[in-house]
Amino acid sequence: MSDSSLLPDDPTRRSALLTTCAVGAAGGATVAWPFLKSLKPSERALAAGAPVEVDIGAMAPGDLKRVEWRGKPVWVVRRTPEMLATLKQTESQLADPASDRKAYPTPDYAKNVHRSIKPEFLVVVGICSHLGCSPSEKFTPGGQPSLPDDWTGGFLCPCHGSTFDLAGRVFKNKPAPDNLEVPPHTYLSDSRILIGEDKKA
Ligand code: FES
Repeated sequence: MSDSSLLPDDPTRRSALLTTCAVGAAGGATVAWPFLKSLKPSERALAAGAPVEVDIGAMAPGDLKRVEWRGKPVWVVRRTPEMLATLKQTESQLADPASDRKAYPTPDYAKNVHRSIKPEFLVVVGICSHLGCSPSEKFTPGGQPSLPDDWTGGFLCPCHGSTFDLAGRVFKNKPAPDNLEVPPHTYLSDSRILIGEDKKA
């Protein structure tokens, strides 16, 4: 199936979807620019590629925190025990449950059933592996528009309907060719994560 065949025939809706996708892909860079512009060139280069420290100490179970790293949205999700329990339930419906595909290689420390260093905290880049839209969190289980009746929670890409579980793993027969990317990251303490490096500098 070609990419254009995945878009609706209605020109207004088609244009709206493409705009949404473009904003999702470029939004991070747009937000970053005023800050980066105020820096000297050497500081700007460092800020654009520098690791980002995230305080997760105040996150409640079920919370999603958004940060920006290298112009990309990165999500940290504090999963509840109920959310973690869904990961086994839907495994047979996933395209790559063990994260073996290589388009966005998953770090070894996240090649496990919860796809993270600590089961509770998921860290993923919020960009769909199909055409770069930013999916929406759909944590409420059950049937709802664009989702099946047996939905157990996860993420929905509004552009062409790819769905991902609560570990960012893509469901079968969807346009997205791979799971959501797990960026390099490490724990500086129980309440601080460094995104952009595998080990503490
Ligand atoms: S960009 Fe097409 S399904 Fe996500």
